[in-house]
Amino acid sequence: MGPFALAQLLALISVTVALDDGLLKTPPMGWMAWERFRCDIDCKDDRENCISEDLFKDTADRLAEDGWKELGYEYVIIDDCWMSLLRDEHGRLQPEPSRFPGGIAKLARYIHDRGLKLGIYADMGTHTCMGFPGTTLDKIEIDAQTFASWGVDYLKFDGCYSNPIEQMLGYPLMSKALNATGRPMVYSCSWPVYVGGLPPNVNYSLLGDICHLWRNYYDIQDSWDSVQGIVEWFSNNQDDLQPAAGPGRWNDPDMLIIGNFGLSVDQARSQMALWAIMAAPLIMSNDLRNLDNSARAILQNKVAIAINQDPMGIQGRRLLQEKNRIEVYWRPLSNSASALVFLSRRTDMPYLYHTSLAKLKYQAGTYEANDVFTGSAVRGLNATSEFTISINPSGVVMWYVYPEQQSKLTESLHHRHKTFHKAKPEHSTVL
Ligand code: GLA
Repeated sequence: MGPFALAQLLALISVTVALDDGLLKTPPMGWMAWERFRCDIDCKDDRENCISEDLFKDTADRLAEDGWKELGYEYVIIDDCWMSLLRDEHGRLQPEPSRFPGGIAKLARYIHDRGLKLGIYADMGTHTCMGFPGTTLDKIEIDAQTFASWGVDYLKFDGCYSNPIEQMLGYPLMSKALNATGRPMVYSCSWPVYVGGLPPNVNYSLLGDICHLWRNYYDIQDSWDSVQGIVEWFSNNQDDLQPAAGPGRWNDPDMLIIGNFGLSVDQARSQMALWAIMAAPLIMSNDLRNLDNSARAILQNKVAIAINQDPMGIQGRRLLQEKNRIEVYWRPLSNSASALVFLSRRTDMPYLYHTSLAKLKYQAGTYEANDVFTGSAVRGLNATSEFTISINPSGVVMWYVYPEQQSKLTESLHHRHKTFHKAKPEHSTVL
C-alpha cells in the first residue's frame, strides 16, 4: 500500500471513529504503576512492591480512604509486566496467574466497588516494551473485547516493537475496536512518542479524533532534570502542542513523580504547578502507602487541581523566558480567571522578581490573586503597578488570578482590605 492509499484509509477510519463520547472532558486523574514500580516481578523477595494484584488493591484502598477519590483521583492504572508470557487457548491475553491469582475481572470489581476505575496496558507491536505479548494488527479486536469483558475503563496503548506503518494502522483500529465493544473506555495513545512527537510526523488533529490523550515525549524519570527536560520540550514546541489539547483530547507529559525520591519540596510544587498549567493528566506514580505529608499536601492542593481541571480545557503556555532564568507560564481559565506560574531555573538563592500584570499582557484593571501553595491572598493588584515576588531555586510561585469586580459580591460579606496582604514568609512571599 502506498502512502497515499494509506492516508485515504486513515481519513476514512478517523471519520468513523471520532471520539465524541463525553469521556475526559477534563484531564484524567489517578495513579499508574510504572514510574515508581517499573517491572518489578519479584514477588518472592519484594512482596510489597512487585507488580501484583495486591499492589493495585492496596493503591485502590488508599485512593478511596485517604481523600484522593473525592479530589478526582479515580483511575488505578496497571502498566507493563502484568501479563503471562503466553496468550490463553482462545488467543486472549491473560494475567500472570502467580501475581494476579484472582484475574483482572475480579480486580476490576474490587476497584469499582470503591468508586474507582481500572486502567490497563497493552502494546501495538509484537511485544510490550518489557517483552510481554504484544497486540499485533490481527489481535486488536480480540484484545479490545477482552478488556471490555473484564470491565476495564482505560487503555494505555504503547508502541514498542512496531513500525510506523503498523502504528498508523493499529492506533486508529484500536480506537474503532474499543468503540465497537460498547464499553466506554479511555484510550491513551503512545503513538507520537514513537514518531518524534511533532508535526509533520504526528497529525494532532487525527490523534484528537481517535485518542483521549497521548504521550508526546520520552518517559519521565525520578529526577528534577527529567521534569525540566519535559517542560522545556513542551514549551519549545507549544505552538504545535497547545492547540491540539481541549476537552476529550489531551497532551500527556507523563506521570507525576511527587512523593518519590528525586524531587525536593520546591521541585515537587514546580511539577504540580506546571502540570496544572499544561492541562496535563494528573496521574501519580508513587507509593500511596508511604507518602510524606508535604507530597500529600502538594498533590491534594485543591486550587492547583481546580486549575488543572478547568472546564474550558485550554492548555497554558510559557509566556516569558527572562535572561535571569525566571520563566513565566500562563493559562486562561473560566470566569475570566487565569493562572500564573513563576518558575526559577536558578541554582543560587531565592530570586526577587519584579514585574506587573500589564507586563504579562493582562488588560488594564484591578485584579486579585490567591497564592496557590501558601494560601495567602493578594488584593488590589493594579495591572500597571509593579509587584515583587521571591522565587526559590527550582521552585515556583503560583497564582490563581481573577478580576477584582468578580469578588465584590463575596467580598462585601467580608472585611475589605484595599491593601496588599503579606504572604506567609515561607516559600513564596509577596513583598
Ligand atoms: C514505555 C512507556 C512507559 C512504560 C514502559 C513500560 O517506555 O513510555 O510509560 O509504559 O514502556 O515498559
